[in-house]
Amino acid sequence: MRRKLAAGNWKMNGLAADLSELDAMQDAADGAAEVLICPPATLIGQAVARRGAIAIGGQDCHKSGSGAHTGDISAPMLADAGASHVILGHSERRTDHDEHDDDVRAKCRAAWEAGLVAVVCVGETLEEREAQNTLDIIAGQLAGSVPDGATGHNLVIAYEPVWAIGTGKVPSTDEIGDVHDFIRARLERRFGEGVGRSVRILYGGSVKPGNATEIFAVSNVDGALVGGASLKAADFVPIINALGASSA
Ligand code: PGA
Repeated sequence: MRRKLAAGNWKMNGLAADLSELDAMQDAADGAAEVLICPPATLIGQAVARRGAIAIGGQDCHKSGSGAHTGDISAPMLADAGASHVILGHSERRTDHDEHDDDVRAKCRAAWEAGLVAVVCVGETLEEREAQNTLDIIAGQLAGSVPDGATGHNLVIAYEPVWAIGTGKVPSTDEIGDVHDFIRARLERRFGEGVGRSVRILYGGSVKPGNATEIFAVSNVDGALVGGASLKAADFVPIINALGASSA
């Protein structure tokens, strides 16, 4: 059984005062679904101190454990601060920082060495979807971004269509299901049935309280990676609860 995961990505949002939102998520985090919040790096230590049942993660890590890389954060630093997860290969990292699959793969190895769970993001652009290249793009990103050695404990995949992130646009449930089934099949083929079936696959891109229930009913959707709607408990708690209800 894959435990459902509601993951929040705060991106470059959040000051210390916003950690009160974590307190307001505590009750929901005690439910059936696992809850993860990835605040900005500046807040990880404080978030860990008041996390309760909420897991805390980073939003990126360097491929090296330490060294002369001004401004970067390594996986051992995240682990040392109390983080248990790290998001890797988010489309905003791929675009803003020109990250490619081989970078993500190296970061994923570094995350695993530090004992972190890697949440590896994949997803097509609108042009790629319109050209009917979605599954080829996903296959390439999966093969390129995920190193050998994946297990259900160290890897989570997030399918995030680039055109759905922060836009209010969401693929149809059939479109989400097609990609999630495809990712499941690819994971089983590469890592074997047992591992392939145990890796959780999240959907991300404009998940809101109003669309969560129908998205969580789709096959092979094991939770969500949520941006904007994870910033406030008033939005994220209904999403967590919808996920918990879907696993009942
Ligand atoms: P969004 O972001 O929920 O604001 O669309 C999702 C993400 O980028 O992880």
